[in-house]
Amino acid sequence: MVKKNACIFISGKGSNLKNLILRSRDYSFPVSIKLVISDQKKALGLLHAKKNSIPYVIIDTNSRNYENKIIKDLKKHNIYLICLAGYMKILSKKFLKNYGKKIINIHPSLLPKFKGLNTFSRIMKNKEKKTGCTVHYVNEKLDNGKVISQRFFFIESDDDEEKLKIKTQKLEYFVFPESIIKIFRNF
Ligand code: GAR
Repeated sequence: MVKKNACIFISGKGSNLKNLILRSRDYSFPVSIKLVISDQKKALGLLHAKKNSIPYVIIDTNSRNYENKIIKDLKKHNIYLICLAGYMKILSKKFLKNYGKKIINIHPSLLPKFKGLNTFSRIMKNKEKKTGCTVHYVNEKLDNGKVISQRFFFIESDDDEEKLKIKTQKLEYFVFPESIIKIFRNF
């Protein structure tokens, strides 16, 4: 099968990146990961790029026009799909328009609930009965684009923020690859 090229954007640990690299090795998985972009030079996730000989770029978000540099790198690697996997910067409207191809994001809540940061503490405070994760297309509004896939679990009485995070991330490792497969199903 001819795979499309994907780029994964990270800011931290990169456990979703690690999982996507593993899944992308399946013959039938629709994308191949050709580039990793991080806005943090010390992001642990970069180790997964290094270990798997995937080119990576560290961007300085304080420099002017840094998004133009990203666009150049994406073009160079002929990237068709961007996956935001714990990337904590907001992409500008101009970037979304200039890139013009598919961008998806994973968020640790059942969107439209709990957009933004500090998700788990807000879920606990709100005494939610269930939570989960969402993969959605990225548009100019934060955590707002069309949902591709979502999964949930019921919150137990002894769950705390840390446990919610672990349970949510376990689900993420299914939902992210599943969403990518879904996007390309009718291709
Ligand atoms: C993931 O749980 C993802 O849902 C979250 O960051 C984590 C990154 O983990 N994203 C957001 O909160 C975006 N608003 P990872 O670096 O181990 O993949």
